[in-house]
Amino acid sequence: MMCVINKCVFPVAGYGTRFLPVTKAIPKEMLPVLTKPLIQYGVEEALGAGIYNMIMVTNAYKQAIANHFKPHLDIERNVKNTNKAILLDEVNAISKECDFSYIQQQQMLGLGHAIYTAKPLIDKESFAVILPDDLCINTGDSVLLQMTKLYKQHPDCCIVAVEEVPSSEVDKYGVIDGELLANSSNAYRVHNMIEKPKLSQAPSNLAIIGRYVLTHEIFATLAHTQADKNAEIQITDALMSLAESGKVIAYKFQGRRFDCGSVKGFVEANGVFAKAQFKSTN
Ligand code: UTP
Repeated sequence: MMCVINKCVFPVAGYGTRFLPVTKAIPKEMLPVLTKPLIQYGVEEALGAGIYNMIMVTNAYKQAIANHFKPHLDIERNVKNTNKAILLDEVNAISKECDFSYIQQQQMLGLGHAIYTAKPLIDKESFAVILPDDLCINTGDSVLLQMTKLYKQHPDCCIVAVEEVPSSEVDKYGVIDGELLANSSNAYRVHNMIEKPKLSQAPSNLAIIGRYVLTHEIFATLAHTQADKNAEIQITDALMSLAESGKVIAYKFQGRRFDCGSVKGFVEANGVFAKAQFKSTN
């Protein structure tokens, strides 16, 4: 069984309406934490997990994302032989090292639909998914690397990252019900999962965040997943049907996540990164 993950899908077609007006002309994924856009943190995390093929599910208004990973010869000439050249080096190195593919999601029909849109670019293989508006940091292995390591032990299972959230917030997430795997303190076999439950219906406070390792089986499942009441195809619903045959593991990751899809989480991430940066340069 192939258990090496070679591709990472970035569903970045959403409109980021919580950040209007800035997201009118600037994709949410290009908003910076300090000087680096969210999408670059996501790509760096994939690279850190040994993945070199980045697949962006995007829309017609998000050209800035592709531009970010292309050489900009005028700026390069401008900063050449100055102390600013180093500021471009990191992203240029990524562009050289990785292969980027772009595919458009024609209609905003939900995260499940966005992932399904990437199907023509995925062979019969498992793949990773990163939602770059969930910014994850850790001093040891990155969250995705922790997940790909777990996946190697369970190559017929999908892995979802979960985090304990306050009860007042369970209604913003997909929430799981599961039981710890034998000899594990952080990986659960998922029995049930509910998208945005009311607190009274939430099976736990373990909320799914934007990191997944998905087996190819997810595509056949997504193809039959009904849209919800908002006409969106939810990845949680597709995963639920795989969970019925024990094929979903929830992994409580090590590290810290910032919900940069919300203004509060985004500002918090900038605060934490700024504090770390200015402490190290003072
Ligand atoms: P969100 O609902 O958090 O993102 O979707 P959004 O729609 O861009 O933001 P708001 O709520 O309007 O502020 C989670 C992730 O799924 C992607 C989004 O781009 C985001 O990364 N997504 C969602 C798609 O790619 N396509 C969809 O149809 C829906």
